[in-house]
Amino acid sequence: MPQAKVQVRLTVNGDATDVAFAPHKTLLEVLREDLALTGTKHGCELGECGACAVLVDGKPILSCLMLGLETDGAHVTTIEGMADGPTLHPLQAAFADMGAAQCGYCTPAMLLTAKALLDGNSSPTMDELRRALSGVLCRCTGYVSIFNAVGSVCSLGPTCGADYATGGGRPQEDDVQ
Ligand code: FES
Ligand code: FES
Repeated sequence: MPQAKVQVRLTVNGDATDVAFAPHKTLLEVLREDLALTGTKHGCELGECGACAVLVDGKPILSCLMLGLETDGAHVTTIEGMADGPTLHPLQAAFADMGAAQCGYCTPAMLLTAKALLDGNSSPTMDELRRALSGVLCRCTGYVSIFNAVGSVCSLGPTCGADYATGGGRPQEDDVQ
């Protein structure tokens, strides 16, 4: 017998949205399967890769670890809501201009996580930036171009990744969540 669905009302990328889904579904599954927002990437489903990060009430959340029904009444931002119509968010433009995306699998989560940091702190330190992004793994870029791109739209500047490249910004043991 099919499982009864739960009905949730949330705001997704600024739009009030009613969605019905099986109660066991994660937010990641609801976004991708029920709302067709496939920009949120499906990685490990274990809370380790960070590829599934979205913003819930402005904070980065691993959507593979949150039940969809926990988002009733919440404001969810996915990568589809980051641009302003045809105008890219400055972080998106910087990632494109500075080669901060290669395969692109980590990019939606990386962009949203960086946006959450800069929305709350327009002048982060390199350590704050490094810690903010430490939960999203990138297998392609080596992180330097990502730090440079984020740095280019805040006070850190477009060469801040050099510190990381020389070992000064590499993740530390206490970054592991
Ligand atoms: S899919 Fe890897 S942390 Fe969510
Ligand atoms: S660009 Fe490929 S995982 Fe980051």
